[in-house]
Amino acid sequence: MFFKKSKNQTANIERPSLITLTRPSSVVSEQFRTIRTNIHFSMVDTDLKSLSITSAGPGAGKSTISANLAVSFANEGKKVLLIDTDMRKPTVHKTFRLPNHDGLTTMLTDRNAELVNIIHRLDTDNLYILTSGAIPPNPAELLASKRMEQLKTELEELFDLIIFDLPPVVAVTDAQIIASKTDGTIFVINKGGADKEMVLKSKELLDKVQANVMGAVLNRVDTKNDHYYTYYGENR
Ligand SMILES: Nc1ncnc2c1ncn2[C@@H]1O[C@H](COP(=O)(O)OP(=O)(O)OP(=O)(O)O)[C@@H](O)[C@H]1O
Ligand SMILES: [Mg+2]
Repeated sequence: MFFKKSKNQTANIERPSLITLTRPSSVVSEQFRTIRTNIHFSMVDTDLKSLSITSAGPGAGKSTISANLAVSFANEGKKVLLIDTDMRKPTVHKTFRLPNHDGLTTMLTDRNAELVNIIHRLDTDNLYILTSGAIPPNPAELLASKRMEQLKTELEELFDLIIFDLPPVVAVTDAQIIASKTDGTIFVINKGGADKEMVLKSKELLDKVQANVMGAVLNRVDTKNDHYYTYYGENR
């Protein structure tokens, strides 16, 4: 399947949240490569095709980490699709400066929609984006639908790795629905603002649906030393 390159995008724009694109040799980009390596180590026996990124509450850094991990895996040569699965507060189109008339919701609700017209191919090699599309009234229902399952299977044929940028776990069921269906889940913890009870509650909710929580990324660890992101794998 041939995806047309989208008019955008990445060249010559200073975007602090996309540091792996704008400053590939920075310490932070190196930390994303370390997270990528740790994810590989956590999945030695399984072929990792899909990855969910979530957190307990809002604003932990899920979207930032999803976008930079997508770049990092694409740089490694994997054909990566980043899907904005946060149908309540989508931001991926803003981060990559893409239109968002159509996206995941189009694919789930319009039988005639074709992936080639909806997925954006970026000018960064191997990186593809499916934005959220219009915000639907029933996100959880759409994400739990048979069509979503079919779409995921279809996309797994076309891409090496699919990264799902999810909403927080605690408020709505969306994250649980998707996390239970992906090969691995990464949990983002905002070092400064995370509520321990909420983190434990989230872990419980993810365990309940048998999500494979591979580890946590501790975000905003030590801004003075540029060490923003740290990954802790689970010993499983
Ligand atoms: N390590 C960091 N250092 C500085 N700013 C950060 C860091 N991580 C995230 N941010 C900023 O914090 C804000 C929230 O981040 P982001 O949108 O990635 O969080 P989120 O978990 O996806 O939020 P939401 O729950 O709303 O989807 C953004 O403006 C982002 O640029
Ligand atoms: Mg987000």
